[in-house]
Amino acid sequence: MPPKWYWPIDMNEVPKIVVEPPGPRAMEIVKADSTLIMQSFGRWYPLVIRRGYGPVIEDVDGNLYIDFNAGIAVMNVGHSHPRIVEAIKRQAELFTHYSMTDFYYELIVKHASMLRDIVPISGDKRVFYTNSGTESIEGALKISRGHFRNQRPYVIAFLGAFHGRTYGSMALTASKPIQRFGFNPMLPNVIHVPYPYPYRCPFGRDLTEEECGEAVLGYMEDWIFGKLVDPSEVSAIFFEPVQGEGGYVVPPRNFIQGLRKMTDKYGILLVDDEVQSGFGRTGRWFAIEHFGVEPDIITMAKAIAAGLPLGAIVGRAGVMDLPRGSHANTFGGNPVALAAGIEVINIINEEDLLTNAQRVGEYIKRRFMEEMDRTELIGDVRGLGLMIGVELVRNRKTREYASKELEQVLLESFKRGVAVIGAGKSVIRIAPPLNIPMELAERAVDILIDVIRKVDRERVK
Ligand SMILES: Cc1ncc(COP(=O)(O)O)c(C=O)c1O
Repeated sequence: MPPKWYWPIDMNEVPKIVVEPPGPRAMEIVKADSTLIMQSFGRWYPLVIRRGYGPVIEDVDGNLYIDFNAGIAVMNVGHSHPRIVEAIKRQAELFTHYSMTDFYYELIVKHASMLRDIVPISGDKRVFYTNSGTESIEGALKISRGHFRNQRPYVIAFLGAFHGRTYGSMALTASKPIQRFGFNPMLPNVIHVPYPYPYRCPFGRDLTEEECGEAVLGYMEDWIFGKLVDPSEVSAIFFEPVQGEGGYVVPPRNFIQGLRKMTDKYGILLVDDEVQSGFGRTGRWFAIEHFGVEPDIITMAKAIAAGLPLGAIVGRAGVMDLPRGSHANTFGGNPVALAAGIEVINIINEEDLLTNAQRVGEYIKRRFMEEMDRTELIGDVRGLGLMIGVELVRNRKTREYASKELEQVLLESFKRGVAVIGAGKSVIRIAPPLNIPMELAERAVDILIDVIRKVDRERVK
């Protein structure tokens, strides 16, 4: 069944460009922003949003775009879903805050019991609420080290990973040098190992996916545990089941399964960062379900509450055992965010958005794969559900990154009414709301492919 359309615009009129973007009102706001806001982040193009309608956004000059970003994998149930709007209003009239780490309210147990039912960890579980992805990672770091009462001071993370920007999570992050540049010293005892990026396997491009997964696991055993640190000193391995910022990289199945075997063998905790890949993004509740593995801890945020700041750490009860007084926060489990979060789970279930994500995701991937026969610029197409990466390369043989071409594709798509950004060095990152109708996905893909062909034709080879 196609997803229900609630919004007061005609889907057939989208995208609609009434003023060439960026329009005059957008430019005024961008100018004011540059004099008021620290510009420590890189925006891709001057999109100034005024309103959202499910999988569509409107800018301040009245242009309508198909949203292939979902506010960076946050708006999984689309913008301004009426059930979310209603839940927020209802809760705002009752109370908007009452510090859950000091007092109690019913929404906490209601939401936590719904989370318990969807999180792929069997047995008894416990939840800790946070306000963001980075705070979920910080908490998971404390839980991992704290669980072993500091007898296992090391943690392992992967090159290409993105886990956040605060000091603990930044120490795990390794997707671009600028994210760490100038901020040393980092949190100590974090060891980075290569990630099995099948298209660019760090152990040789000729390796198959499986061989690449094996090579990384072998490196960890032989070179990290064999030469650098005894595994009994490692508390946790943090990983993304699909690397997000790193380029929407899907690892081989044997790698994730091998990580589970390794962590079981050495008593290390396996921490699954689903901040970007969770909440239906990949067509399952959590991406790890594609690999048939259960982690010990899952971190989440982004899509959990339809844009309200909420995150969570969910883990096996035996692991979530920090002592009283050792970890808390003021805003975690905010009641308005929890009310929205309850509706997010209801909507994904009742509107069957996991099926829509699989169906539309397969279609989008197939279209770009077919296009590889026509356009040299596309080097690789990969993804699960609606977490899709299209990697652009200047040359298929050398796999030279096409970073400049990527920028051109994104800017031109924006001007034609498709809002989409990049990941990694030259990957188009496709992550629309999970309730995007097939017709809109088709229209957006038509535009993107047309733009890629144009950039391919006009580039200097
Ligand atoms: C996998 C992953 N972990 C953690 C984070 C950090 O989340 P936040 O930006 O909410 O701090 C992100 C953000 O993009 C992410 O993609």
